[in-house]
Amino acid sequence: ALQASFVPKIKARQRFTNKLQPRASTYKVAILGAAGGIGQPLALLIKMSPLVSALHLYDIANVKGVAADLSHCNTPSQILDFTGPSQLANCLKGMDAVVIPAGVPRKPGMTRDDLFNINANIVKTLVEAVADNCPDAFIHIISNPVNSTVPIAAEVLKQKGVYNPKKLFGVTTLDVVRANTFVAEKKNLKLIDVDVPVVGGHAGITILPLLSKTRPSVTFTDEEVEELTVRIQNAGTEVVEAKAGAGSATLSMAYAAARFVESSLRALDGDGDVYECSFVQSELTELPFFASRVKLGKKGVEAVISADLQGLTEFETKALEALKPELKASIEKGVAFVQKQA
Ligand code: NAD
Ligand code: LMR
Repeated sequence: ALQASFVPKIKARQRFTNKLQPRASTYKVAILGAAGGIGQPLALLIKMSPLVSALHLYDIANVKGVAADLSHCNTPSQILDFTGPSQLANCLKGMDAVVIPAGVPRKPGMTRDDLFNINANIVKTLVEAVADNCPDAFIHIISNPVNSTVPIAAEVLKQKGVYNPKKLFGVTTLDVVRANTFVAEKKNLKLIDVDVPVVGGHAGITILPLLSKTRPSVTFTDEEVEELTVRIQNAGTEVVEAKAGAGSATLSMAYAAARFVESSLRALDGDGDVYECSFVQSELTELPFFASRVKLGKKGVEAVISADLQGLTEFETKALEALKPELKASIEKGVAFVQKQA
């Protein structure tokens, strides 16, 4: 009797496991800064991905415990931990995607640019190692200020002779996640349906939600556009202030980054219908980097979607022009930081 009831249960569990594994788990992902506020929940979410076979966790401290803990989850990916610069090369070899949330977060009263002095060096050093050990990987930069750390990463990769602009991404998915949530709440829409493209960059007024391009089509009053735009632009600060000195967004960021990783892996896996907003090298405007929707494919950015910038409202056109000087300065600051040291 015992066996009779036991066997079907095992079968049911296998069926469940099979459901979790629609395809083979084949991709290898590293998180640099994996013991941090973003790193830990992001590692958990990536551990749940059916597409991941190995998850490498790197940090300068405290990563062993995170890895031991996570490794007990019965999902397919193997967890390995790496501590400190001497283990960084081994962490990176063979990776398909490298996600970088290493660095310090804001405290109340700070701008993202106030993090530049510390985070610029961290990103530079980590990307140098990526260039040396897995130059073909998708690189996802989360560390702030994204408007400068992505140009820093590009310059480092250029210096190393391995820059592939199609595979370098500033992660701006959280801006889209927030825009979708706030618009759905305001207009009483089903969350799952709402998609708002967010363009520009990832700081203050450089974050430009294109509410007129919301899908499904929604009409907003001028007051609603103003209020929603400002809320989306200040959403990071909203969290920094609520955390009152204990850091910035970590859980929503991990959720957003996990979505971007999963989209990248689906694209690598041959899914031909993957679109995300990201801060990438771009010819959409006169600026060398710009966040917009991009089509992801096996080789990275397959196309930068220009349609969203056509037929903008007067509000959006003005906001787009207004953000350019700040975004340009942040990009140039990142480029100069690396070139100065060359
Ligand atoms: P945190 O301080 O909790 O964690 C950062 C981790 O990075 C720590 O574990 C630390 O040990 C590690 N670290 C520091 N130097 C390192 C190095 N040289 N190599 C490897 N790891 C290193 O901070 P957090 O809340 O996780 O935020 C991390 C970064 O992400 C911040 O710069 C923050 O501004 C940024 N962020 C970006 C977005 C976005 O939308 N792109 C959203 C939220 C936060
Ligand atoms: C965010 O948008 O939440 C992040 O960029 C962190 C911050 O400093 O606001």
